[in-house]
Amino acid sequence: MQNLIDQLGQLLGQQFVLTDDQEKSPYLTDWRKRFTGKALAVVLPKTTTEVAQIVQLCAAANVAIVPQGGNTSFCGGATPDDSGKQILLSLKRMNQIRELDVANQTITLEAGCILQSVQEKAAAQDFLFPLSLGAEGSCMIGGNLATNAGGTNVLRYGNTRDLCLGLEVVTAKGEIWDGMKGLRKDNTGYDLRDLFIGSEGTLGIITAAVMKLYPLPISQWTTLVATQDIASTIALLNLFQKRATSLLTGFEMMTQESLELNEKHFPQMANPLKGKPAYTVLIELSDHESEEHVRQLLEAILEEAFKANIVTDAVIASNLSQANSFWQMREHITLAQAEEGANLKNDITIPLSSLDRFIQETDHLMRTQYPGVRIINFGHLGDGNLHYNIAPPLGVDAKSFNVDHEKAIYALVNAQVERCKGSISAEHGIGQLKLGDLRDHKGVVAHDLMKALKAALDPQNILNPHKVVSI
Ligand code: FAD
Ligand code: MLT
Ligand code: ZN
Repeated sequence: MQNLIDQLGQLLGQQFVLTDDQEKSPYLTDWRKRFTGKALAVVLPKTTTEVAQIVQLCAAANVAIVPQGGNTSFCGGATPDDSGKQILLSLKRMNQIRELDVANQTITLEAGCILQSVQEKAAAQDFLFPLSLGAEGSCMIGGNLATNAGGTNVLRYGNTRDLCLGLEVVTAKGEIWDGMKGLRKDNTGYDLRDLFIGSEGTLGIITAAVMKLYPLPISQWTTLVATQDIASTIALLNLFQKRATSLLTGFEMMTQESLELNEKHFPQMANPLKGKPAYTVLIELSDHESEEHVRQLLEAILEEAFKANIVTDAVIASNLSQANSFWQMREHITLAQAEEGANLKNDITIPLSSLDRFIQETDHLMRTQYPGVRIINFGHLGDGNLHYNIAPPLGVDAKSFNVDHEKAIYALVNAQVERCKGSISAEHGIGQLKLGDLRDHKGVVAHDLMKALKAALDPQNILNPHKVVSI
């Protein structure tokens, strides 16, 4: 192995091959501190050619590679195993924006660009790059593509997959696939781009991408609305979909229990709605017409909702800073959960028509089988995506609760998801957390096809092995 380390040092320069435990450590534990691994070395290439050469050297030495972007994965996708024999390849030095093409409305980026910097670059030229998630200050575009990240604008603009037109990928053999075309139509056989998107580093290493841009909206109105139950929340969503159509850019749901946890850790995040509503919904409308036009539409829809008795209270943000504080409240739930201690994450999608039944039945089963358990349920309701996270009863040690009950709780939720024809991973991916659940969820045929693809593209099994599927 020393031979490989020496070769990598010659290729990249010694300072970009980390072997010291302290230097490696930030790359080896995930954001939630749920997974910790070991690595032979952490390597930090600057160019696509260097990535390709690293893969060639590792393939020759039969050493596996774990690609990593911002290390914000929720399912341990970017954490190596504990053998100490894998190489962690961080894309963070590959952070150049190669081009912003105004006429084609595209931006061409290296994989290590931080999402927020891409949004800012686009905005500076009057464009919107619509991907937006709580981790945007540290997650990277390569990681977003590798996980097909969702976030808060999916309702209007789609997942990361929908925003991507072209990719550059280093294959398991160390070849460079140049698929960097910014085309909106291209029916030339199998779609390799879509194969790599969402593959979580198991089929290739994404080094660059061509992403879509949109005109920057000129008016945006944000409101917080109180509802009594999930049925009226869905009725409210349907009303907004019908009346606001494509102006509806965000529809996020937070339960009272989620917001209480928020307030416990971040008292400044108090809910401005009166009387602790069962559900608080954050709704955003954006448009290219005047502020007045959108405001009037929002007020008219809310009036209709009050008349139909599907909302009990509403506050419209009076300025940008209040709108930001509504979003902060929503984004802080994840941070409050992290402060509270370990919890069990369920990132699921349920068809909207079954969501009410799912929540009622699953809440009931959960509370009966695990008395006192805290259900931190919130998420991108407009997409049917719940973050149905489970925290132990107050006063119970989270680590031992999870050791005792993690398997059974995941099995309970997964069974409910299957009954409702949902998905066990809406946007976070499979990684190592859900590896063991995938076969049952997808079915044997789909699972075998996935394994066949993995074996065909990475026969040596050196790209992020034992994540997503094991071969
Ligand atoms: P990493 O965590 O570094 O890696 C994720 C996976 O992609 C790993 O399997 C890794 O091996 C692989 N990978 C990374 N880079 C590459 C590459 N260049 N080529 C090939 N494979 C690669 N996710 C959502 O979808 N929606 C949300 O709303 C959301 N909110 C979040 C809020 C917070 C506070 C946090 C901490 C996370 C959130 N996430 C969310 C999860 C996470 O941010 C996303 O999955 C994100 O896309 C991961 O990007 P990353 O750069 O951190 O990737
Ligand atoms: C979010 O939407 O804030 C994250 O994806 C959710 C989570 O913490 O589970
Ligand atoms: Zn989310």
